[in-house]
Amino acid sequence: MLKRLFGGLSKDIGIDLGTSNSIFYVRDRGMVINEPTVAAINTRTDALVAIGMDAKKMMGKTPPHIVVVEPVVAGVISDFEVSEKFIKHCIEKIHRGSFAFSPRPRTIVSVPLAITEVERKAVRDAVTAAGAREVRLVDEPIAAAIGARLAVSESYGRMVVEIGGGTTSIGVISLSGIVAFSTLKTAGNALDAAIQAFVQENFNITIGRKAAEEIKIRIGSSVPAEEPSELTVKGRNMLTGLPKEFSVSDGEIREAIKRPVRTIVDAIRTTIENAPPELVSDLYESGVLLSGGGALLSGLPTLVGRELSMPVRVVDDPLTAVVRGTGILLDDEALLREVESASRSLE
Ligand SMILES: Nc1ncnc2c1ncn2[C@@H]1O[C@H](COP(=O)(O)OP(=O)(O)OP(=O)(O)O)[C@@H](O)[C@H]1O
Ligand SMILES: [Mg+2]
Repeated sequence: MLKRLFGGLSKDIGIDLGTSNSIFYVRDRGMVINEPTVAAINTRTDALVAIGMDAKKMMGKTPPHIVVVEPVVAGVISDFEVSEKFIKHCIEKIHRGSFAFSPRPRTIVSVPLAITEVERKAVRDAVTAAGAREVRLVDEPIAAAIGARLAVSESYGRMVVEIGGGTTSIGVISLSGIVAFSTLKTAGNALDAAIQAFVQENFNITIGRKAAEEIKIRIGSSVPAEEPSELTVKGRNMLTGLPKEFSVSDGEIREAIKRPVRTIVDAIRTTIENAPPELVSDLYESGVLLSGGGALLSGLPTLVGRELSMPVRVVDDPLTAVVRGTGILLDDEALLREVESASRSLE
């Protein structure tokens, strides 16, 4: 009885703790927090100064006693204390504004496919320390497929390619489990780094990570667009050390990111080649579902479709598909159990 009462009051939460962005989905309310996974910490007092976009804006502009930390690297927790502080702050924010006493929430957290047992434990421990009563883990591509409302429990092969900031997870799904997969550390951040390197080599100008990301989002593409585009950017002239404006074209940026994009396409191809033959014909019919922020790169579905001769589509709102999947699982205990028992890491 008490448990039921608590269960009713408790705000069950689905969490996508990503390298770039973290999203919190509250049952019956939907996505309530969507912030960059960044925290600013006062090193003298250990106190949290800011999180999310507020903290990201402080990057490179802090006095010595404040550090800006990205606690998740390549999809896994790299700074435990800061991750805990970040999650705790978000859970407390969700509870604020509720009238009643809020019991500790049940949570479902998405994790990348390549995660080790130690890294899974770090996620469980951080979310528990941040105030959760229960932590259930689901593989990211499965969560994305559920977020896309695919019938993952069928005995039918489907491929999900989840391109985030720090990781690309490629999974072939059938019967609620991952049948074949590969993971890469080549994802959105790698494209940004390639743009930075290109600008440095070809223009003798250094630009920051944020500037590189903005170039990618504004004019980045993987196949030529109908209309060419250009962007004026500010950087620092490496020879004089002074600020300098320059302009880059979409063609130059396409060239700059060609290699990491190729790495992702090749990994998709290899994963299909390694999938059980019975599933390959399903894959040619069901196609590839692209998800994650990286799926928004202009022209990527066209390139993948052309290279693999397969239908390709981008999930609706690719940045939130994973967390929406965890949200659906909050309401479907039977499916959650099925997905957990098929999880790779239990093998
Ligand atoms: N319009 C866009 N075009 C290209 N890339 C984009 C676009 N919008 C966002 N991105 C990129 O998507 C990435 C973030 O995606 P997402 O939020 O899915 O990652 P994440 O879940 O935080 O990371 P991971 O899953 O690797 O832990 C960033 O690299 C960002 O630059
Ligand atoms: Mg992600």
